[in-house]
Amino acid sequence: MSIISTDIAKAIAILNNDDVVAIPTETVYGLAGNIYSEKAINRIFAVKKRPFFNPLIVHVHDVKEVDKLVTDFPEKARLLALTFWPGSLTLILPKKDSVPDLITAGKDSVAVRVPNHPVTLELLRRLDFPLAAPSANPFGSISPTKAIHVNDYFENDIGMVLEGGSCANGIESTIVGFESGEPIVYRLGSISLEELEAVVGPVSVMNKKENAPVAPGMLSRHYAPKTRTYLVDNVTAFIANHTDKKIGVITHDEHIETTERVTVIKLSSTADLKQAAAALYSSMHHLDTLDLDLIVAQRFPDTGMGRAINDRLERATKIAD
Ligand code: TXA
Ligand code: MG
Repeated sequence: MSIISTDIAKAIAILNNDDVVAIPTETVYGLAGNIYSEKAINRIFAVKKRPFFNPLIVHVHDVKEVDKLVTDFPEKARLLALTFWPGSLTLILPKKDSVPDLITAGKDSVAVRVPNHPVTLELLRRLDFPLAAPSANPFGSISPTKAIHVNDYFENDIGMVLEGGSCANGIESTIVGFESGEPIVYRLGSISLEELEAVVGPVSVMNKKENAPVAPGMLSRHYAPKTRTYLVDNVTAFIANHTDKKIGVITHDEHIETTERVTVIKLSSTADLKQAAAALYSSMHHLDTLDLDLIVAQRFPDTGMGRAINDRLERATKIAD
């Protein structure tokens, strides 16, 4: 039975009752609960099988709500918020004591964003509390960009997915923290480095290879299909070297024919990396249902949204510990 519904009043009732609802955003669907309800937050971690050391993003409907949650809002953070909210930017700021430790995994900072989706903005306006919402997928799996993806993951675990259509951006928010007021990207995402730099000047990117990730979204295996996945520069050569395998292909500018053995999804031309990002996860979800031996993706140019796409594809190729 489907748990997908457009009934906002029902979502409000569930959330007011200390339970969880999956909600649409412009990036990916989130699994939401009242940040002040220990029961709801514990439920989020349990449903996702997410380790408690991995903190959650707090979603609010207006930048003024953020002032109630943080002790400091550096100038460059405020500039980024004014430019990109509502939108796909998450800011890490020092938290007030009133923000529960369960949300922040005991850290003294909190992740906040104003999502840009009309349904969820209305929901947030009608609630008396902010919503904590990690992506609505089991820990490590591909994030959902359609209500049906959430339904397939969690129909036996949660009461409702609030329908909001396909996520326009299709890749998670960009996470930015601050050190002495200077921005550092903790997770590449829907707002590109170039877009950030056009507003606040040079921005550094957290070294991916560091052992203790600041944002555990940077744990190496993440966003992974069940099918073994590879990331290569030349898919044609890869296919020629794996003649005995059923292969799913994700490409952007290689011309490869779909055959009985090879299923090709061409994401978009190199020129439109945003469109490619929007379709990336649903392509991975789809290929994962075809019972293939392996998936191979073509590396994208390391510019604009291509950086975030390559980051997700790299993590999808990691073998689980
Ligand atoms: O686009 C998005 O950001 C989606 C939608 C639903 O808003 N949410 C999302 O949440 O991607 P999640 O939980 O899958 O990823 C949140 C990331 C995690 O990697 C977490 O470690 C990091 O944010 N994070 C949260 N609070 C943090 C903090 N105080 N310091 C550093 N990283 C933090
Ligand atoms: Mg996630």
